[in-house]
Amino acid sequence: MKKFKWMATLIVSAFLLVLSACGASETSGGGEKKKTLRVVTDAAYAPFEYQDKGEVVGFDVDFIKAVAKQAGYEVKVEHVGWDPLFVEIKGKTADLAVSAITINDDRKQTYDFSVPYFLSTNKILIPKDSDIKSAADLKDKVVAVQNGTTGQEAVETLLGKENKNVKKFKDNNLAIMELKNGGADAVVADNTVIEEYVKNNPNENFIVIEDEGAFDKEFYGVLFPKESKLKAEFDKAIKEMMENGEYAKIYKKWFKVDPDLSELKA
Ligand code: ARG
Repeated sequence: MKKFKWMATLIVSAFLLVLSACGASETSGGGEKKKTLRVVTDAAYAPFEYQDKGEVVGFDVDFIKAVAKQAGYEVKVEHVGWDPLFVEIKGKTADLAVSAITINDDRKQTYDFSVPYFLSTNKILIPKDSDIKSAADLKDKVVAVQNGTTGQEAVETLLGKENKNVKKFKDNNLAIMELKNGGADAVVADNTVIEEYVKNNPNENFIVIEDEGAFDKEFYGVLFPKESKLKAEFDKAIKEMMENGEYAKIYKKWFKVDPDLSELKA
């Protein structure tokens, strides 16, 4: 009898061991649980990512959830801020970042990017009665930007690095606040974001002006640690979603019009 009990315990333990090994496996399919990826962002950039009742929402959030699903993953999107998100991806404490991040050569040295998923450019946000008519007019003005963005870079190219008239903020909402409070004459940031701001705040009397000669075309990409195996899987998923209409559905939800996919083929 004693022997039988001992045997039973052994069999049960072996069975449990096999079970737990299965649970830890990351391969999907066969009803196994999908791996949840940690996605970091700076949720102060509506309509791409912002906080609503404590939740991170926006075009980028819907986009990355759909891409991850297509690639066989689940995601948890966490607001960590702009500078911290780069630190996390570099240190591999997060799997990927989505945050209206422009693909550029400088960042490519340290990170990997997905294929482009959104076309953007910097534009200028000013009060309606401003005498600023072009990027050149920013020369002797005070300009607020989000620190570490292509907007900062573009303004410093115009005004000079170390110019005290370039006021840098940790997020773009703070830069807009500075303009509202009269501490700056203009904000330079991604067109969609400042256009959305003007649309949502008509009584603040701001307008957006563009200057194609001064500001380049930019493309957003998903940011990965260098050599991440996720890049290939996500690139494939993004391309599939652009083909099967899923990307267009999400785009239309946020921007009310159909996307022009031809412009993403850089
Ligand atoms: N596209 C610009 C850049 O990559 C600004 C992005 C800012 N994104 C944000 N979530 N605050 O530099």
